[in-house]
Amino acid sequence: MAPPPPNISFAKRPCEDARVSAFRIVVLASGSGTNLQAILDRLHGQGLVEVVGVGSDKPGAGALERAARAGVDTAVFPADAYPDRMGRDAAMGDWVESHHPGLVVLAGYMQLLTEPFVARFAGRIVNIHPALLPSFPGLDAIGQALEAGAEETGVTVHFVDEGIDTGPVILQRRVPVPVGRERGVLEAAVHNVEHELYPEAIRMIAEGRVRIDPSDPRKVAIDD
Ligand code: GRF
Repeated sequence: MAPPPPNISFAKRPCEDARVSAFRIVVLASGSGTNLQAILDRLHGQGLVEVVGVGSDKPGAGALERAARAGVDTAVFPADAYPDRMGRDAAMGDWVESHHPGLVVLAGYMQLLTEPFVARFAGRIVNIHPALLPSFPGLDAIGQALEAGAEETGVTVHFVDEGIDTGPVILQRRVPVPVGRERGVLEAAVHNVEHELYPEAIRMIAEGRVRIDPSDPRKVAIDD
């Protein structure tokens, strides 16, 4: 059985106080990076949150271009540059750690993280998944929802543990499946919600309002 997540509690930080340094996040992304862009547009450089690094396994990832445009440090960790996944995650972990992040944000990072990487940043890694977990975990969650005949699906932001999309849920929002069940329409609706929900969750963490319940490590408590 996987060990319980640690009792994390982020210190409260008044966001208007310019003397308090920003909450540092590193984003890992494999794809076009529209979630990264939402984080850059809604949070980055406004005092509370600073995106200090964007890492990818894909040299051509759109997310890297978006980061470069925002003046954020980038690095690439392609699988074929390392003997194995452990080696890649060790190098990536060193790079992440060198940025001293309070949080590692997976935004469409399509590689499974090794257990040592997850343990190294235990309780400090979050992911966004395009379904209402525990429904439709893993790949192509939108396709799974359509295939299953679901009338609604949604978006989940959760802490990352050793499983696939199994960590404690921070925020969820429903998205109805459109009447015509067109994939493109549903995808657009899900992405719109993602672009609101991920910055919202990261803001709450940066403000120190998110805690894992010590009496039930599967549960997240959110302070007002
Ligand atoms: C999003 O749908 C996210 O839920 C999933 O990967 C996708 C990434 O999209 N984990 P983008 O690269 O942020 O546009």
